[in-house]
Amino acid sequence: MELSNDTKNILGLHLPTDPRWVNLAEKSLEDILTDHAYCEQKATTTCISLIQRYSNKEKVVIDLSPIVTEEWGHFRLVLAELHKRNLKLGPQRKDEYVNALLEFQKKGGHIDDRFLDQMLTMALIEARSCERFKRLSEGLNDAYMQKFYRRFMESEAGHYTLFIELAETYIDKEKVRRRWKEWLDYEAGVIKNIEVRGDRIH
Ligand SMILES: [Fe+2]
Ligand SMILES: [Fe+2]
Repeated sequence: MELSNDTKNILGLHLPTDPRWVNLAEKSLEDILTDHAYCEQKATTTCISLIQRYSNKEKVVIDLSPIVTEEWGHFRLVLAELHKRNLKLGPQRKDEYVNALLEFQKKGGHIDDRFLDQMLTMALIEARSCERFKRLSEGLNDAYMQKFYRRFMESEAGHYTLFIELAETYIDKEKVRRRWKEWLDYEAGVIKNIEVRGDRIH
């Protein structure tokens, strides 16, 4: 299947998702919904942690508070979809993609650098999730599921922009741009090295 240009270019990601992924995902609905549910849960808890960690950054607190509710709402939507289909929320898996991204985060150094990397990690996860939801909304055969994923795609696109905006509020824009480029290069390498599996969102 040929990728549409906007999927190729989505959000600046360097490497588009392997086209085989959507066909694999279609065959393992219970697993992909389970994995998706945990992704939404992790997005919720990470936003709560960021609010706690950066309580002195007013925009972080104000802007991420509704995202907590929204991500938890996403979790509930996915859970409802599982139950509607008589499928079960399976166990949480090890998240190779996110773990690989966390390895690239600056752990020491100035607090601003750590803050920047935490915002950019979230922006990347949102961007890649958005790209994957777009692939599902375009590539699945079931019209209901296409619509189901389209809703998530739109929402995660907004979150991606928000995390970049939060970074730019507190850090010099040129510095954000330079580091974002490094993150995009690194993320492309991560995606390239991760096995294409239909039972996970990333
Ligand atoms: Fe979400
Ligand atoms: Fe999100």
